[in-house]
This record gives sequence, structure tokens and C-alpha cells, in this order.
Amino acid sequence: ISLKKHNTFGIDVKARHFTSVSATEELRDILRQPGYPDKFILGGGSNILFTGDVEALVIHMNIKGITVTQEGEDHVFIRAGAGENWHEFVLWTLEKGYGGLENLSLIPGNVGTAPIQNIGAYGVELKDVFSSCEAVEIASGETKSFHLQDCRFGYRNSIFKQEAKGKYIITSVTFKLTKRKHHIHIDYGAIRSRLAEQGIETPSIRDISEAVISIRRSKLPDPAEIGNSGSFFKNPVIPAEDFEKLKNRYPEIPHYPVSEKHVKVPAGWLIEQCGFKGRRFGDAGVHTKQALVLVNYGNATGKEIWKLAQDIRETVSEKFGISIHPEVNVL
Ligand code: EPU
Repeated sequence: ISLKKHNTFGIDVKARHFTSVSATEELRDILRQPGYPDKFILGGGSNILFTGDVEALVIHMNIKGITVTQEGEDHVFIRAGAGENWHEFVLWTLEKGYGGLENLSLIPGNVGTAPIQNIGAYGVELKDVFSSCEAVEIASGETKSFHLQDCRFGYRNSIFKQEAKGKYIITSVTFKLTKRKHHIHIDYGAIRSRLAEQGIETPSIRDISEAVISIRRSKLPDPAEIGNSGSFFKNPVIPAEDFEKLKNRYPEIPHYPVSEKHVKVPAGWLIEQCGFKGRRFGDAGVHTKQALVLVNYGNATGKEIWKLAQDIRETVSEKFGISIHPEVNVL
């Protein structure tokens, strides 16, 4: 079957073997079946670039369900199935008045893949609201719980991208959200100005969600209209002394301190300085409003997008001496 509808880049590759699972038991049965040594786990397909047909058995995670598992005066624990659409889940929590996910509104993808890269936006990361997740070990078919500390979350990183890579399939995620005394994060410049424009001084969690939605809509392409996978690269973290030299050459360079010795620089800015913003090569291109986002205007192949990504990396490296790395998984 074609995977075009199963990846937000809209790349038309084929899977020889494809199965969709809607329950953990079903998943275990499939893992026990002999004959498929390689498995590829597919969630919402929002963080993957396919560069060719897939020979492995594609297991599409479609486990649904949202349950309140524990409730106190101030907090609530909510378990969501891996196959729940991320943004629909966020909206569900906001409707109930639960706080924590508002800054993470409108991120494409599913609940089950969110922990893998510790999704983050506008000053909040998944790890800030994560309690635990359940996963099935591919080799044994056994269920295992991963608690916050087990996951070793970092910037766009977790154990599931390191030691545990390719070994587990996340089946559900449990979040710890607030029922009152919400922790509000509005330090991000764009959120502040959006709220100020509307004259909102003490924003509700829904106001924040709406601000985030409008900022994202204004900068990021909607995968339903133009194929893309959000940020294609991670923002590089560079030594502070290298940053000082860069700042002498480019005084206007945006940056965020990450520690005393390291500074994070937006890859989008570096790419824009290299003249790539809005460029188009056939159907592969660099988004007009956000240079960190590569887009498929229709019929680009994964190889064409990957070629463009390589050209960008080389140019950024030549001009700035900084290597940037993909944030999306390339298969
Ligand atoms: N910038 C440019 N040119 C561009 C793009 C950005 O000069 O083409 C500059 C902006 O002016 C700004 C800075 O770079 O000063 C940062 O830009 P932005 O606020 O758009 O955020 P980002 O660092 O490019 C990161 C995340 C996004 C997340 C936003 C908001 C990564 C790899 N990306 O982007 O996450 O939504 O911050 O928090 O960390 C994603 O991972 O798919 C994603 C969209």
C-alpha cells in the first residue's frame, strides 16, 4: 500500500506489508508472528522522511482511548492511547479545564510518538507534563512502564532515540496536568505580543492555546495543504566562545543560553542567512515563512528532500562552521 497518506511530508512510497493495530493484545499477537524480522512503527507520520519503499512490516499504531487514572485536588493523571491525535487530545484536556498542554497546541502527530523526541514548543516540553508511558518490548512482547526519570528526556531527545531505539513500541502515555493553579508559560516573545495585541493581561490556558495556534498558523505550513514535517533540523548548541566570534561578525544573531558554556542558535536563522528561505527546487523547497521547515509542494520524492537537506547542511557548515542535524527521522 502507498504510505502517502501516512506521512505528513506526503511522500509516495510503498509498504509491502502493512497492518494497523487498535489494542495492545493485537500488537503482541503481531509481534509473536514469525516471518517479519524487521518492523517499522508508524504513528502520525509527522516526523519521518521516507526516501524509498519500506521492506519492513509497517505497524500503524491506532490504539485509542483517554482515561482519567487518578485525580486529586490540584492535579489529574490522564492516560491517552498512542494512536490518539496529539492536537485533538490537547483540545480535549483544555475543554475539561486541565492545564499543561496549552503551549503544545497544534503540533502534528500522535500521542505515542510525542515522548520519542520530547516534543516542545513555546517554552514547554513534553517532559514537563509527562508522568509515565507504557511500551511493549518488541523482542519479548512484554509490557514495560517508563517513568519520567527512565526516559532521560533532553532537547528533542529521549531514551527512545538512544539505547531503547527500535526496541519498544509505546502504547499509551500518562500525563500529569493541573486542575487549578496552572503553571503558565508566556515568556516566549511571540506569545507575549499576541496576548498583548488582544489586550489580555491574565491569560487563561485557552487564551494561551489560541495564541499558540495563531502563531503556528502564521509561520508553519499546514501539512493538509503543503507536505512538511515541522522543523527539519534541530537548533544547534555551540560552545560559548564560538558563539562570541559569530556575534562579532553577526551582531544581530538570535540565540538562547543553555548553560554557562553553551548557546543555542536557531537553525532557521542560519539557513535564512544562507539564502535558502523560500527557495524551491522542483517540488522540494524551503518554506517561505520559516527556513527550518522543508516542504513538499506535491510530487517531491524523499530523495529530493534529503538532497536539499544535504545542500543546506553543507552551505551552513561552510558559511558558519556549524553542523546542523536532522530532527526528523530519515528512513
Ligand atoms: N528565524 C529566522 N529565520 C527563519 C526562521 C527563524 O531568522 O526562517 C529566527 C526567528 O526570527 C527567531 C528565531 O529564529 O529569532 C527562532 O525562530 P522560531 O521562534 O520560529 O523558532 P525555531 O527555533 O525556529 C523552535 C522549534 C519549533 C517550535 C518553535 C517555538 C526546534 C527544532 N524547533 O523553532 O518546533 O515550534 O521553536 O518554540 O527546536 C518542530 O520541532 O517541528 C517545531 C516546529
